[in-house]
Amino acid sequence: MNEMIQKKVFPVTGEGYNMPAYEEAYKNFAWEDVEKQFSWHTTNKVNMAYEAIDRHVDTPLKNKTALYYSDASRDEQYTFEELKALSDKFGNVLRKYGIQKGDRVFVFMPRTPELYVSVLGTIKVGAIVGPLFEAFMEGAVRDRLEDSGAVAIITTPALLSRVPVSELPALKHVILFGEDGELAEGQISYEKEMEQASADFEIEWVDREDGLILHYTSGSTGKPKGILHVHNAMIQHYQTAKWVLDLQDSDVYWCTADPGWVTGTSYGIFGPWLNGATNVVRGGRFSPQDWYSTIEKYKVTVWYSAPTAFRMLMGAGDELVKQFDLASLRHVLSVGEPLNPEVVYWGMKVFAKRIHDTWWMTETGGQLICNYATMDVKPGSMGKPFPGIVAAIVDDEGNELPPNRMGNLAIKTGWPSMMRRVWNNPAKYEEYFRLEGWYVSGDSAYMDEDGYFWFQGRVDDVIMTAGERVGPFEVESKLVEHPAVAEAGVIGKPDPVRGEIIKAFIALRDGYEESEELLAEIRQFVKIGLAAHAAPREIEVRDKLPKTRSGKIMRRVLKAWELGLPTGDLSTMED
Ligand code: WT7
Repeated sequence: MNEMIQKKVFPVTGEGYNMPAYEEAYKNFAWEDVEKQFSWHTTNKVNMAYEAIDRHVDTPLKNKTALYYSDASRDEQYTFEELKALSDKFGNVLRKYGIQKGDRVFVFMPRTPELYVSVLGTIKVGAIVGPLFEAFMEGAVRDRLEDSGAVAIITTPALLSRVPVSELPALKHVILFGEDGELAEGQISYEKEMEQASADFEIEWVDREDGLILHYTSGSTGKPKGILHVHNAMIQHYQTAKWVLDLQDSDVYWCTADPGWVTGTSYGIFGPWLNGATNVVRGGRFSPQDWYSTIEKYKVTVWYSAPTAFRMLMGAGDELVKQFDLASLRHVLSVGEPLNPEVVYWGMKVFAKRIHDTWWMTETGGQLICNYATMDVKPGSMGKPFPGIVAAIVDDEGNELPPNRMGNLAIKTGWPSMMRRVWNNPAKYEEYFRLEGWYVSGDSAYMDEDGYFWFQGRVDDVIMTAGERVGPFEVESKLVEHPAVAEAGVIGKPDPVRGEIIKAFIALRDGYEESEELLAEIRQFVKIGLAAHAAPREIEVRDKLPKTRSGKIMRRVLKAWELGLPTGDLSTMED
């Protein structure tokens, strides 16, 4: 299968990487050795924020820049010592309002230094942080705060209208950053509290298995799932950032993901700072000019981004690249969706760099299958399992399949950053482990003779649009809330730039006529109720949608319609 593709290889270039040659690294690796990096090795107590920030203050890294931040109106930098002091203060603010270990505290704000201080401060008091992407609208915010029983949220005046405070009885405190007017009852000013907060702070030492972060993510059915990660995940964050991102002392590292998604926390906060690297954060929207100038301005050396972004940069043309000095780049990586070989070839052409694909998921907490600096890269492949990780292709009974056979991509259970719970939903959690000894990813793939893994698709109906995971059920539920929509089925339609776009098939209620205005209104309705990235780019009206006898919309039939493919077995379809 795919023999031509499999044979194309970009060999290892240069030396001086953190990771030894792959085979050697894999053979000699033990997670127990990584643990020795951390304080719990002697005390049995730990805190992610201590390991990522505080401990560097007792080393020569103290005055090193931990964070470069810029947007259209701000241009700032913070040392490790400054970040420690700010997050200590914020920890005191939270304590003043009674927030303690195990409480859920959400952070809902644009990417600014205050977001990072809030996340770190929350972790310092032992609370569980729930980062929310700033594009979320009221419905998405409500679902997450309600499900997790959040007691506090840190947000901004602009986003406040999307937090339905009166409908959330557990939510006691709203901390507002950037409010200079009157505060309503229950509202707290971030700036005022920080001004008054004491600098003396005692960090909350927790157990390795205590909750750290709650990331909500979509499945094919039901509401978003709250994926809980624990402090123990730092073992994986540390080691993968060291070997996969190849972070070294002199690196200036830029992860383009927002902390509302797991990439923006595991590899936008924890991994790089555990390794003492300098993080670049650029606020504001994507633009090719701005991105290239960010690399030039900070002399970014390691860059972690996503296929959709690379494809958009590709679309902006090679001439643009030449207007910037990007010579600082030494290691480039990608995550989130399949990285097309064309993009890897383009990367070689314009940056003279291999783009290293990495595969993992919200649930896995950290990278699992990757292309490494010290390994040959096969464009189009996700690479090989990280040392300490056993990956395989298994059939639906859990039998391992031989090379070049497509099946379920599964991982032997028990890596350090594996999710520990689906919040409020043990049954959903168990579903991932239905095949004895395996974590079942929901992706299909095959492995070639050389042990490289090749992504084939999702097993379920989950949509990946511009690197963001969208559950069709959530979008369908929102669509049918609109008075004109009788039923709705949502699929991912292949798209050359975004990977997939969201396409909705709907049937209208009696009395409604299809018109461009109506479809635009429906689209807007989803955008306002859920999030811009969840709104269908295309809506097609049909008299009736294909359904099973039990009333479930048959998305695979919609997909076949869309792609002009045979519809397959229709035996369960209603007349
Ligand atoms: C799904 C997980 C973890 C970071 C961002 C996404 C898809 C992820 C790759 C890759 C092909 C990929 C999978 C996976 N995916 N990385 N390198 N090649 N597909 O996290 O939102 O939890 O989504 O993203 O389908 O299951 P997520």
